Amino acid sequence: MNTDGDVTGFSIAIMAAGKGTRLKSKRPKVLHEIGGQALLLHVIDAAKTVVPAAQIYCIIGHEAERVRAVVASTGVQFVLQAEQRGTGHALQQVKAHFAETGEAIPRHLLVLSGDVPLIRSETIASICELHLHEHAAMTILTAVPDDPTGYGRVLRAAPGKPEVTAIVEQKSLRPDQLNTPEINSGIYCFETKALFNKLDSLSTNNAHGEFYLTDVAAMLVADGERVVAVQAESVNEVLGANTIAEMMHLDTAMRMETAKRLMAQGVTIFRPETCVIDSAVTVGADTVIEPYVQLLGATKIGTECRIRSYSVIQQSTLGNEVTVRNGCILDSAEVSDGAILGPYAHLRPESRIGEGAHVGNFVETKKVTLGKGSKANHLNYLGDAVIGAGVNVGAGAITCNYDGVNKHRTTIGDGVFVGSDSTLVAPVTLGAGAYVAAGSCITEDVPEGALALGRSRQTTKPGWATAKRATLKKQS
Ligand code: UD1
Ligand code: CA
Repeated sequence: MNTDGDVTGFSIAIMAAGKGTRLKSKRPKVLHEIGGQALLLHVIDAAKTVVPAAQIYCIIGHEAERVRAVVASTGVQFVLQAEQRGTGHALQQVKAHFAETGEAIPRHLLVLSGDVPLIRSETIASICELHLHEHAAMTILTAVPDDPTGYGRVLRAAPGKPEVTAIVEQKSLRPDQLNTPEINSGIYCFETKALFNKLDSLSTNNAHGEFYLTDVAAMLVADGERVVAVQAESVNEVLGANTIAEMMHLDTAMRMETAKRLMAQGVTIFRPETCVIDSAVTVGADTVIEPYVQLLGATKIGTECRIRSYSVIQQSTLGNEVTVRNGCILDSAEVSDGAILGPYAHLRPESRIGEGAHVGNFVETKKVTLGKGSKANHLNYLGDAVIGAGVNVGAGAITCNYDGVNKHRTTIGDGVFVGSDSTLVAPVTLGAGAYVAAGSCITEDVPEGALALGRSRQTTKPGWATAKRATLKKQS
C-alpha cells in the first residue's frame, strides 16, 4: 500500500477492547461468531490482505487474555487498553505503545472496528487509496443504511462534496440533525501524526462520558486539516454488530455471500437461504447441496458430490462423487471418493471412510478406518476399529470397544463377512476372508478364512407350541 512511494506506509489498528454491553453476554463481543468464526478473526483476515500481521495492532481490554488466546495464531500485535474509556482512549493506547516501544510511527494508520466484520479487503484498499489521493488527514468510510439509528452521523460540508465537518454520535444529534442519513462506519484512515496530535485534547464531556475517536474529525477541521468521507459500495459491509439481532443479520448476510461464492465456482445450492455454510468451507464444482444442509468449520467437499437435506457436516473432508443421503451427521470425518453415507449415518471424530465404501442407515462410527468398498449398511456401531477392504458388516453388528474403563481395538481383515447382529468383543482380530455367523458373540480371534460361530445351537421341539396352547386353553 505504498501508492505514493511512501516508505513507512500503512499500519492497521483494530479496536477490540470493548465489552459489548448491549449483547447481554458473558462472552466478549469480538469473540461472538458469525459465519462460524469470531467477529475479530473476520476483521483480522481482511486486514491481513492489506498489510502483514506484524503491522496490525489489535487493541484488547475486556477479557483481554481470552481474546488474545483466540486470535494469537494470526500473528498480530497486541495493545492493551486496560480500562475501556472509549474509542478515542483506545487509540491513545496505540500512541502510547509507539512512545514506549520506540517502534517507528507509520505514516498512515487505518483504524478498523472489531465489531464491523463484513468489511472487504477491496474496500479497505480503496479507502486507503482515496486517503492518499485526497491528501487527507482523516478519511471516513460511511454508508446510508435503511435505518441509521444508533450510529454516529457524518456531516458533510456540502451535499455531494467529500469534505466532512464533523461526526456526531446518535445521542448528541440536535433535532435538526436527526435526519442525517449518512452513518460513520467506525472505519477510518488517518495521517498518524495528525491523529496522535489530537488524541490528548479529547474530552469525556459527552453523553457517554467517554473519549470519542469521532471527535477528532471536527478537531482536525478546526485546524484547517482535510477530513473526507467515502461511501462503501454495499451497506452490509459496514454494519456493526452491537446486539444479538444485529449479529444474526450479519451472520445471514455473510452466509449468503459464502453461498454465492460457492455458486460462482460451479456448486449448485438449492434454496441457499435455508443452508448454513461457514465462511471457511470449500466445495468443488458440480457438487449439489440440497435445502437445509449445514456445512461447518473448515469442511472441504470435493467435486460432483451430492449432499442431501438435513445433513450437518462439520470439520470434515469429503472426496469427489461422495453421496451424503438425508440426515447424516459428520464431525471431523474423512470420506474418500465415491463413498455413500446414510440416510441417518453418524460419523464421529476420526472416522475414515474408504473409497466407494457404504455407511448406511442408523450407523454410528468413531475412530474407525473402513476400507475400500466395505459396507456397513444397517444399524451398526463401529468404534476403535480398523476394517479392511471389501468387508461386509451385517445389519446390527457392533464392536464392543469399551470395558467400562478402557477402549479396545477391533481389527477386521480384507473380505471378512460379519453376520448380522454379531457382537465383536474387543480386543479381537478377524483374519482376512473369515466368516462370522449371524448372531455370534466373538470373544476370540478368528484366523484367516475360518468360520466363527459364537452362539448356542438351535434346538427345535416339533409340536411343542401346539401342545402348549392346548394345555393353556384347557386350564382357562
Ligand atoms: C462507534 C462510533 C460511531 C459509529 C459506530 C460504527 C465512536 C464514539 N462511535 O459507535 O460513530 O457509527 O462505531 O459501528 O467511536 N472499543 C474499544 N475500546 C473502548 C470502546 C470501544 O476498543 O474503550 C471498541 C469496541 O470493542 C468496538 C469498537 O471499538 O469493536 C466500537 O465501539 P462501540 O462501543 O461498539 O462503538 P459504537 O457505539 O458502535
Ligand atoms: Ca459498535
